[in-house]
Amino acid sequence: MQIKKTVLLGIGGGIAAFKSIQVASTLFQNGFDVHVAMSPSSQNFIKPLSFSAVINRPVLSSLFPELQTNDKETIYPHLFPANHADIFVLLPATANMIAKVAHGFGPEVVSACALSLPEHCKRYYCPAMNAEMWQQITVQNNMTLLDDLGWQRIGPEQGHLACGVIGEGRMSEPESIIDAICNKDEPKILADKRVLILSGPTLEHIDPVRFISNGSSGKMGKELALAAVRFGASVDFISGPVASPNLPSGPGIKVKNILSAKEMLYEAENSFPEADIALFVAAVSDYMPVETNSSKLPKNKGEFSLKFESTPDIAATLGSTKTDEQICIGFALETNSDAVDKAKSKLKSKNLDAIILNGIKSFGGEKGHFSYISECGQNVEKWGVIPKTQCAQQIINKAAELV
Ligand code: C5P
Repeated sequence: MQIKKTVLLGIGGGIAAFKSIQVASTLFQNGFDVHVAMSPSSQNFIKPLSFSAVINRPVLSSLFPELQTNDKETIYPHLFPANHADIFVLLPATANMIAKVAHGFGPEVVSACALSLPEHCKRYYCPAMNAEMWQQITVQNNMTLLDDLGWQRIGPEQGHLACGVIGEGRMSEPESIIDAICNKDEPKILADKRVLILSGPTLEHIDPVRFISNGSSGKMGKELALAAVRFGASVDFISGPVASPNLPSGPGIKVKNILSAKEMLYEAENSFPEADIALFVAAVSDYMPVETNSSKLPKNKGEFSLKFESTPDIAATLGSTKTDEQICIGFALETNSDAVDKAKSKLKSKNLDAIILNGIKSFGGEKGHFSYISECGQNVEKWGVIPKTQCAQQIINKAAELV
């Protein structure tokens, strides 16, 4: 019989605390023995009862609770269940909570619990705060202290922050947190490997306000980056403009933003020699204007024509310099009935090791219709309609096998 793992969630005083209820509930539904400790300030945002209702037991809400029962958790809340926890997660990890835990202070029940975790306990923290706070040197130093002590950081993500700012500091979504916690035993098959990912669309400017581009949400690229770091890789992520929630962030991921195909090629050529695996998921614009006007073109009535030329084929350029140790995987989006043949010929012309064929319905959504083609076109695997998260995991598995 599998022994239930004990998870202790330490809730900090930030608005993202409300997302922690989802984490507690999902872990509980997945058979974990879930406990929750709440700092006093977190109880300004949500009530202990919200957690009790989903984990089916009382919450540790004070270091000095009233002694109504004589169970160990009431008498010694800083020790039980902390000292037999298998997993401890700080969420949201506020700047103050990170500081307390990094320096070993325990003035309230959450940070006190963090002081009595057993050695085998996996420690995670999910930062959530305003972007300026996150960038403060003191916060960054405390984060480094925790990282050096073996704490695993989940997030923060780029995106909309409660204070109205867009930036880095948003707590990761419950699904990503669950994923990181539950996949901690995943074999680090890409440890010490570097993965280059080209993602998003490129924008080819006609004048300062107009451009030609391709549709691309960047979701597939983000999922590939997250899967690669979960398997132990470090990721260089070069992306055209996408909505900030579709950019990956977190330890091991370096993001570089570009606009045009030429800029993407320039950055990619810099990173490619260091890469063990390159994933070309970008929807690179096929054409760029022969000339870019420095000022906005006037609007005239009637027909209007522009001269375009081909953009550099980044995958083909890098593929032609690939060493025997490097693995390159591309994508092909085809709408015609000869899609598989087209994908096979791209596989060869770009010197790729594999290519993922996807349909137009993959656009922007969470799922897509995918086929995996490798071995110079001899191997065709129809993966069918699957979530992009699963597709990313399968691609990374394949890349790990190839490398
Ligand atoms: O030629 P096509 O655009 O269909 O090729 C698709 C694959 O090639 C994708 O992996 C895409 O990221 C990559 N590509 C590229 N540079 C281009 C065009 C496509 O790297 N200019």
